Amino acid sequence: MITRDDAMQLLLSHNPEQHMVYHALTSEAVMRGMAGALKEDPEVWGIAGLLHDIDYPLTKDTPEQHGLMAMDMLAGKLPDEALAAIRAHNSEYTGLEPTTRLDLALRCSETVTGLVCTNALVRPEGMQGMQPKSLKKKMKDKAFAASVSRDRIRECEKLGMDTGAFFQIAIDAITPIASSVGLVKS
Ligand SMILES: [Fe+2]
Repeated sequence: MITRDDAMQLLLSHNPEQHMVYHALTSEAVMRGMAGALKEDPEVWGIAGLLHDIDYPLTKDTPEQHGLMAMDMLAGKLPDEALAAIRAHNSEYTGLEPTTRLDLALRCSETVTGLVCTNALVRPEGMQGMQPKSLKKKMKDKAFAASVSRDRIRECEKLGMDTGAFFQIAIDAITPIASSVGLVKS
């Protein structure tokens, strides 16, 4: 499997916008946290998170290709289960349904990053002291981070995890990297 350093270089070689680099890093962090909680391989899950949107600069205008192109770009570099998860994270367009734990984890993890990061940006203290209950409130506020799919976040329940536990994992994963992903105010 590709090393983490090479995965990062590969990601950057496609000149993603900065917000997509931040999204990749936060998705990786949450996936590593999920792998820890579910006793899965943190390297495979983390790198799947890091690279899941690698084709985004190339598929911005062809969303039906998003995930499929990534799978081609990453063939041989990641285990098949990770490639399948990257494809299934865009099932709304590709029609390829998530089935495995890794498929489900990638979808809810890469989506929860949007809720956590938007919350950090509106809180004066950023990530510091963020609690799952504050994210639960934001889940109900449809106008908050409106593009973040609540249904996808709730897919954590298919992994036997309630949203409170899932939010705690996401908070614990993103807090230590807050300053690297634009979440610390100057
Ligand atoms: Fe994503």
